[in-house]
Amino acid sequence: MKLLALYSILLVVFLAGCSKTEDPVTPEPVVSFRNDVRPVFNHHCTGCHFPESTNDAKVLDLQTDAIWQNIVNHKSPNSKTWYYIIPNNPQTSLLYLKVSEDIPPFGIRMPAGTANLTMDELLIIKNWIQQGAKNN
Ligand code: HEC
Repeated sequence: MKLLALYSILLVVFLAGCSKTEDPVTPEPVVSFRNDVRPVFNHHCTGCHFPESTNDAKVLDLQTDAIWQNIVNHKSPNSKTWYYIIPNNPQTSLLYLKVSEDIPPFGIRMPAGTANLTMDELLIIKNWIQQGAKNN
């Protein structure tokens, strides 16, 4: 009987824990191009994607301050169809697919020859695009 009482108490405590009101859903934090996205590029991409690069990465400058203009609503010169970044639409943004897909629309997954971006880094880029790819 004692054991049953103990179980009952535990059950009550458990249910009380469950009925605790949930924290209100916090809105997604606003991603900054300058403070969040560019550090990812600087850490993983600019070793190859800089204006004076001598290999095929040269086509895409991810280093200089003009990069926002170079990627947002900007078509890859290597493609008839792909834009680097289409605001609000990561799944049609070449740059996002190049870092998130094992088999991107063309070429290989970026960053080339090293570990994939982490989930957190991918989310920074994805959320930034979903929030309109602002120059913020
Ligand atoms: C080790 C060098 C290297 C690194 C690091 C690197 N890239 Fe690249 N990238 C290349 C080369 C070479 C190509 C051309 C071949 C290809 O498309 O796969 C390329 C192509 C691309 C393209 C297609 C450009 C076009 O218009 O054809 C995108 C987008 C891209 N890289 C994004 C990135 C991003 C974002 C990062 C960082 C997360 C990154 N790359 C890191 C070497 C690199």
